[in-house]
Amino acid sequence: MGKHTDKDKDGVSNMTGRTLHSPIRYDFQLWLAFRGREKNVRDSVLDLLTIKAGDSVLDAGCGTGTLAIAAKRLVGPTGSVHGIDASPEMIARAEKKAQKARVTVAFKYGFVQSLPFPEAHFDVVLSTMMLHHMPHKGRREFIFETRRVLKQGGRLLVVDFIENPRKKKGFFSRFHRHGHINFSDTMDVLNEAGLQIVENGETGIYDLRFVLATARDRT
Ligand SMILES: C[S@@+](CC[C@H](N)C(=O)[O-])C[C@H]1O[C@@H](n2cnc3c(N)ncnc32)[C@H](O)[C@@H]1O
Repeated sequence: MGKHTDKDKDGVSNMTGRTLHSPIRYDFQLWLAFRGREKNVRDSVLDLLTIKAGDSVLDAGCGTGTLAIAAKRLVGPTGSVHGIDASPEMIARAEKKAQKARVTVAFKYGFVQSLPFPEAHFDVVLSTMMLHHMPHKGRREFIFETRRVLKQGGRLLVVDFIENPRKKKGFFSRFHRHGHINFSDTMDVLNEAGLQIVENGETGIYDLRFVLATARDRT
C-alpha cells in the first residue's frame, strides 16, 4: 500500500493550496523580478481586460494586494474591490499597503475554493499567479465558485505560469520554486463551469500566460 500523503502530484496540499507566509520576502522577490517596475507590470495585466468605473472586482489569492490596489484605481469611488487570501500574513501586508496608498480595498482571509460572497456579486474576478498554488481539485472548485459569484457577462482573468521546457529559465524559475498549470485543462474546466473563453495567449512577462473568460447565461 502506498504511503498516505496530503499532497497531490505537484506537492500542493490537497486541503488548502500552497499558502505564502513571508509577505516582505514575496514583495522583494517581485521587485527584483520586475526590476522595480511592478506597477507597470500590474497595469499591463489589467489592460488584458476592461475594468470600468463602478465595477465590483474580486482578486482571488490576492497575496500582498498590489493588483487589487491597482484595480481600485480603475473602479473609482463608485466601484469596489475585494481581495481574498488564505494567508493572514499576506492579508495583513495588503491592508497596510492599501492604507499607505489611501485606497479602500476589502481584504479578507479565506479560501478561494469556498468564496464567502453571494451569487452574481462581481463584474470581474482576477486570479494572477494563484492557480499553480492550488491542488487540482481546488482549481476546479475555485473555477466553479467563480462562476457562482460572477454576474452574467462578468469576466474572469487567469494569469499563470505555463510549463515551457524549451525556454531559457527566467528569474522566477531560478529564485522562486513554483509550479505551472495546464491551460488546455483549465480552459476545459472553465467551459464546464459555464465560462466562455474570450481570449487567451502569452502575456509577454516571463512564462506567464493568460485566459479571459466571460460568464454565460445559466439557462
Ligand atoms: C504567488 S502568490 C500570488 C499573489 C497575487 N495574486 C499576485 O499576483 O502577486 C499565490 C497566493 O495564493 C495564496 N493561496 C494559496 N492557496 C490559496 C487558497 N486555497 N485560497 C486562497 N489563497 C490561496 C497564497 O497564500 C499566495 O498569497
